[in-house]
Amino acid sequence: MIPNIPAITNPERYSEFDLPREKIEYALGEAIKKIDFALPQFTTKFPSHSSINNVYTQEENTSGWNTGFWTGILWHAYELTGDEKYKTVALGQIPSYLYRIENKLGVNHHDMGFVFSLSCVAAYKLAGSEEGKKAAILAADNLISRYKENGKFIQAWGNVNDPKDNRLIIDCLLNIPLLYWTTQVTGDKKYDEMAWNHFNTTVGVCCRADASTYHTFYFDPETGAPVKGVTHQGAFDESAWARGQAWGIYGPMLTRTYKESDEAMQVFKATSSYFLNHLPEDYVPFWDLCFTDGDNEPRDTSSAAIAVCGMLEAMKHMDKNEALYSIYKNAVNRIMNSLIDNYLTKDVPESNGLLLHATYAKPQGIGIDEMNIWGDYFYMEALHRLLNPDWKLYW
Ligand code: GLY
Repeated sequence: MIPNIPAITNPERYSEFDLPREKIEYALGEAIKKIDFALPQFTTKFPSHSSINNVYTQEENTSGWNTGFWTGILWHAYELTGDEKYKTVALGQIPSYLYRIENKLGVNHHDMGFVFSLSCVAAYKLAGSEEGKKAAILAADNLISRYKENGKFIQAWGNVNDPKDNRLIIDCLLNIPLLYWTTQVTGDKKYDEMAWNHFNTTVGVCCRADASTYHTFYFDPETGAPVKGVTHQGAFDESAWARGQAWGIYGPMLTRTYKESDEAMQVFKATSSYFLNHLPEDYVPFWDLCFTDGDNEPRDTSSAAIAVCGMLEAMKHMDKNEALYSIYKNAVNRIMNSLIDNYLTKDVPESNGLLLHATYAKPQGIGIDEMNIWGDYFYMEALHRLLNPDWKLYW
């Protein structure tokens, strides 16, 4: 359903708050120091999805959903500093993406946008890389091979047509911009149509009446009818996993950048209000929004950074006189201020990442209270958006 927008329960928590440009520039300077520290380790190799004791290890670009975040960080560093060395390294990584998609290495899943938009689409947009464009279009073809006409959604995981895996997950809202983009560059409307159908199906089933979200939703393989919402990485089926909620904030706004969709804006406002109503004292969520101050649970800073990017994108499409506009502006400033003051790695000299205290998957015991590379990516994107509101998206 398209949920109603919940009232902000504590508007005084989002009262006027200034985040001075000097502080954002300081944060960028700290981030660049860490990126420079990490660069020799991750020139041809890639950071692991999560750190171990706040240090990423080296991985090949042959599996998973996370390699694109590092290349994306390099593109932000290049645009923000103008230093060609980041562009050189990012471009040097593009052949590994083309090789990966041409040889179908670790691509039997839906995360084509996370992997290929921030690396290869960005390479095409910023450096005219034809290799990047080719890899990204092949990735889009791989993504639509998972589209189920029966139910009108993209299957997230497992082998296509395996009835036990007949489900979507809310995270995929960040993968479908690759399809909208592919229609733009190829003129073939099928990518856009499938993305738009998937968007509508996802918000139709994943949003609950109170504007919290299901992480995943199953469909009947015979009829295509929605069956049930369950969690994978959240605390329980009916809870709001913090990062799923954050994907439900930023995802609709990415669709909004390609489509004049009132529904996308309505979903964004509803999911972000729920999120803001469930932030603890320091504005950085625990890994599931069912937890609050006093619960002995780890945080997920990556969810905070993702939600900030969604709010910054939304503000570009809103009337400045709308009451929610100033809520988002102050929420962004307060969340970013808290991340900068309390969650940076600057006092952890051995750390080769940016943002402490993220959680990948608590129920699975993976990356708990560690850094994760998408937290670092969205934090960089947020800094970039704050410093240059006209930043042209890689998505
Ligand atoms: N897309 C996987 C995650 O957010 O953990």
